[in-house]
Amino acid sequence: MNKITVVGAGNVGATVANVIAHKDLAREVVLVDIKEGLAEGKALDIWQSSSINMFSTRVTGVTNDYLKTKGSGVVVITSGLPRKPGMSRDDLIKTNAKIVKDVTEKVVKYSPDAIIIIVSNPLDVMTYCAYLASNKPHEKVFGMAGVLDTGRYRAFIASALDVSPKDILSLSLGGHGDTMVPLPRYTTVNGIPIDELLDQDEIHKIVERTRFGGGELVNLMGTSAWYAPGAAAAQMVEAIVDDQKRIFPVCAYLNGEYGLKDIYMGVPVKLGKNGVAEVFELKLNKEESKMLQDSGKSVKSVMKVLDDMKLFK
Ligand code: LAC
Repeated sequence: MNKITVVGAGNVGATVANVIAHKDLAREVVLVDIKEGLAEGKALDIWQSSSINMFSTRVTGVTNDYLKTKGSGVVVITSGLPRKPGMSRDDLIKTNAKIVKDVTEKVVKYSPDAIIIIVSNPLDVMTYCAYLASNKPHEKVFGMAGVLDTGRYRAFIASALDVSPKDILSLSLGGHGDTMVPLPRYTTVNGIPIDELLDQDEIHKIVERTRFGGGELVNLMGTSAWYAPGAAAAQMVEAIVDDQKRIFPVCAYLNGEYGLKDIYMGVPVKLGKNGVAEVFELKLNKEESKMLQDSGKSVKSVMKVLDDMKLFK
């Protein structure tokens, strides 16, 4: 790919740019931030690692100059405030919705064909906000959450079993919040169902830890995580750039799937060069269905706050 833009040069954005460069996914990565010098500095730092880490991707940084992002094939938006201890992701909506709307409009102006990946929180509603601001088909605007949430879940399982995380396969559905729905029934260790290796109590503890996985890190560090979120967004970019058609849980637009309509939420999708190529509808049992519907209600209640802000009249 010729150019990939990452908006927001905070911890998450800089990590996304760094991983994209390491993987040599594009000729150029442009990092944008509103804070004078921040994107330039982080981009220069990453670029100075190129001969050490052996990549060719040019990494450049700009302060608010979207002209430099012109013609990007993929844009990752990480802008907005991160959580502080005691805050839920939903507490960020008032500030972050305005930022995400503004950034998306600028991105689309210079890269009308770009696929847009949202990382800003509250994730599901910020993705919906970017979709409205972009005026693009929903297949081309989606959010990163499930790759991160399952990444955490898989890491916890790998630790519990003392096996390689590479062998843990899993799915998670729902909103990127405490109501997310990790799915033990769809979790295997290289094909071995997880309930043959861990008892129900251990699985339950891992599911709960996953649900609050972001909060655990906010409490430890005083701000939200970046290594795993950055790597997760870059993995989605890779699937798009190489048209890999990988199956990932992605915050995608639902138009009746799972009985949910006009909402962005985490579901398994096929990801390739045109964005979301397909949404997979799983045959959930009663309990899983109920959890997903509850998660849907929770996302809808935050969507109502976005509606009430009347940003899109
Ligand atoms: C997290 C934030 C990025 O889950 O939402 O760590």
